Order: sequence, then structure tokens, then C-alpha cells
Amino acid sequence: MYVEIKQSPELSGEVSLYGAKNAVLVIMASLLLTSGKSLLKNVPASSDVLHMITLLESLGAVISFDHETHELWVDTSSVDKWRVHPDIMKKMRASILVMGPLLARFSRADIALPGGCVIGTRPIDFHLKNFSKMGVEIQSGGAYLKTHVRQLSAKDLVLEYPSIGATENLMMAAVCAPGTTRIINAALEPEVLDLITVLQKMGAQIAIEPPATIIIKGEDALKPIEHELVVDRLEAGAFLLAAAITGGTVFLSNANKDHLAVFLLKLEEMGHLVRSGPKGTGILFKATKSPQAVSFKTAPYPGFPTDLQAPMMAIQCLAQGRSVIDETVFENRLVHIRELQKMGAQISVEGSKAMVTGVDELYGASVIASDIRASCALAIAGLAAKGTTIMTGISHWRRGYDHLEKKLASLGASIALSHSLHLTKPLSETKSAQKY
Ligand code: UD1
Repeated sequence: MYVEIKQSPELSGEVSLYGAKNAVLVIMASLLLTSGKSLLKNVPASSDVLHMITLLESLGAVISFDHETHELWVDTSSVDKWRVHPDIMKKMRASILVMGPLLARFSRADIALPGGCVIGTRPIDFHLKNFSKMGVEIQSGGAYLKTHVRQLSAKDLVLEYPSIGATENLMMAAVCAPGTTRIINAALEPEVLDLITVLQKMGAQIAIEPPATIIIKGEDALKPIEHELVVDRLEAGAFLLAAAITGGTVFLSNANKDHLAVFLLKLEEMGHLVRSGPKGTGILFKATKSPQAVSFKTAPYPGFPTDLQAPMMAIQCLAQGRSVIDETVFENRLVHIRELQKMGAQISVEGSKAMVTGVDELYGASVIASDIRASCALAIAGLAAKGTTIMTGISHWRRGYDHLEKKLASLGASIALSHSLHLTKPLSETKSAQKY
């Protein structure tokens, strides 16, 4: 399977966003803290979500997912297992997020080390160190990391870096630890705040103290919830960048402008027009025809999101001037550069920095997506590249997005998912090399 992308006209129209993938995965895991039936709304049918369904079912949950209404019902009454099979664990890094809830529910969790995208070493030491502090005993060896605890203890937990996953995992354990836990230097991304809202709906007592401390008072029993997910700021970024590179105009009807402040600032600095929608909800975007290159550096929220670094790099390739992009969150998140270079982009790399010099044209090529956001970057570049781009490695595309190609096509993009590959020779040898 592959995605075929052709040079496209200016995108135009209105689109509504799904709930955030990075919120739904952890919120699904958090339902293990309850016993009963919960409802999540606006859930994207991305393959990571389907994978989390498989994981929860393997623990005994009963789940129904309506792909039309995007409603996900999860009944956790019959969850009776605390061991996640390594095959399930290895498919997705977010699988680690069941560890906190399983420890809270069963006082034990047997897991394998998680898999996921190839974007650096991505250890889980912040999770494990702090679970140990809460009294969890961890034994490694064999296929599983076996963990158990007599009674989770409330503690002051300090994160040396505001890791999203560690903040979420520790918070989900702490909601059932008697006493007060404080997570200091916590991540406060909109998706973390959405999890906090969900835990509060369940009955947990959680407060945030400036600058970045989460205070949790442990509760005995938590109840099932109904919740509409925070919208996906990364899906929003994909549409804005697709509109930017094609010179188009789009309205994202349910986007939250505040969740993308630094990213939108950079788009404005490029010369694009960004306005809030009516009543403060929604983003109206109109692309400039002569975009100027901008430099940026990724950082934890509210800084520039690392998940939009690759897609934003794609549009710098065709901007006027030079952009310096510093990836500070992950040490190996520049793999997409090699693929953009195949399309004619002029990019050099020094350590964590990419230097992009704008070119007049990109060319369709055969490219490989190496992670979720790289797939988005390559699709965006493909929309402006002369000719046809064939993107393989699309398991990543499907992991992160629910039929993004169809939504882009509804705005006028020439992009489609194809099921067979009939190529006599790699496109990279034909189109980009010949620069037709
Ligand atoms: C989450 C997001 C992912 C995003 C990333 C950074 C989900 C499901 N995924 O991933 O899309 O790209 O945040 O915004 O929400 N680290 C350690 N030790 C740890 C944990 C993390 O060294 O125990 C490091 C990581 O290697 C990385 C940095 O901390 O360099 C941030 O990672 P983290 O915030 O934990 O990312 P994830 O939660 O895995």
C-alpha cells in the first residue's frame, strides 16, 4: 500500500478536526481505573486507536467503536488481567500508558518494553524511577518487565524533563495512592490537560500549581465517564501547512487557536494570514503567495511542537530565504530530511539543527515515511512537488491520522491511498533525478 500525491491546486474549504490521537490513547488507558461503561466522542479511527482497543480487549475490556459517529464505548467491568503481551506492547510506545492504571487497579503490571516510531532512543527511565519512588518493585528479565506494589505511596515526584508519557502514567497511578502526590516539572500539553479533565470527571482531585506542578489527592473509587476529546492540534497543523504550501485558504471549524500559538506565530511571520473563527473557535487561514523562510526550535508546550517540526520543514523548502530548525525534544527526528532531499529540497544538518535553503521547485519522488509526522511532512511536500510523489511506509500515516488523505482531497488536494504498487523502476530514479 502507498499514498499517491500529485501537485495540487490551492486548497480551499472548511474542515472539522477529530479528537487528538495523543489524548485518546492515554484516556483509553485511564478507563482501566474505573469499572463500568465509558463513552468517548470524536475518536479518530487511526490505527494506533485500533491498537489500543486490541490492548484493552486483551485485558478483558469490552469495546464497541462506531467509525461513522466516532463514538467509542469502553466497558471495563470485566477487566481481569494485568499482563500485556509483548507483541501488543511492541507495536506502539503509548502501550506503556497502561502501566500506571494497572498498578492502581491490580497493584501489578507485567509489560514488555514498548515500540513505536523510530525517533530516538525514547527510554522510559522517568516512568520507572518515579514508580519506584511510589513503592513499585520492578523486575526485569525474560519477555516481561514485572512490576508490583503492596500499596502505592503518594510522593513528591520530580521530572528532570517534562515528559508527556511519564507525567500521564504517574498521574494515573497517583489518583489511587492515598495522600497527596506532586509531580514537579510536569508536562502541561493540551492532551495532558484533557486527561486531567477526564480524571476529574471520574472523581479524582487534581490541581495545577504554577509554573508546572500537578497536585493529586488519591481517591478510592473512580467512576466511568462520558467525554468529548480535545481536538487534534497536530491534525490542524497538517491542514494549515497543506493550505500554506498550495497557496490556499482553509477554515478549521473546531480548531483551538491557543493550542497552536507559537506555530501560528511562525506561520504569520512567513506572511500567511491567520484569524480566529467566529466566537473564538476555529482558525481561518489564507496563504501568502510569497512565503518567507522562518527559523524555529522545538520545545515542550507551549513551545513549538516537535510533532509539527517535520511538516513545518516541508513548507520551508519552498520559502524564500534560509530557515534554521533546531530539534531539541528528540535526538533522531530528522530522518525525513533524506526523503525531502530526494524531492529536490536543499537541506544540510549539523547536530540537532537543519539548515533549509528555499528552492523554486520540488519534484515528485518515491519516498519512505519513517514516522507518523514524517509521513505528514512528505505528503505536504508532495502537494507542491511537480509530478507525482509515491509515499510508502504508510503504516505510520495510518497510525497517526484517520483518513487524512480523504479530508485533504475534500479540500481539492490530489492525494489518494492505493493498494498496489505497479512500478517498473523507483520514481526517485525517474522524476526527481530528471527534474522534469
Ligand atoms: C509524546 C507524544 C508524541 C510526542 C512527544 C513529545 C503521545 C502518545 N505521544 O510522546 O507524539 O512527539 O510526546 O512531544 O502522547 N524521555 C526520557 N525518559 C523517559 C521519557 C521520555 O528520556 O522516561 C525523553 C524522550 O526520549 C524525549 C523526551 O523525553 O526525548 C520527551 O518524551 P515524552 O514527552 O515522554 O514523549 P512521549 O510521551 O513518548
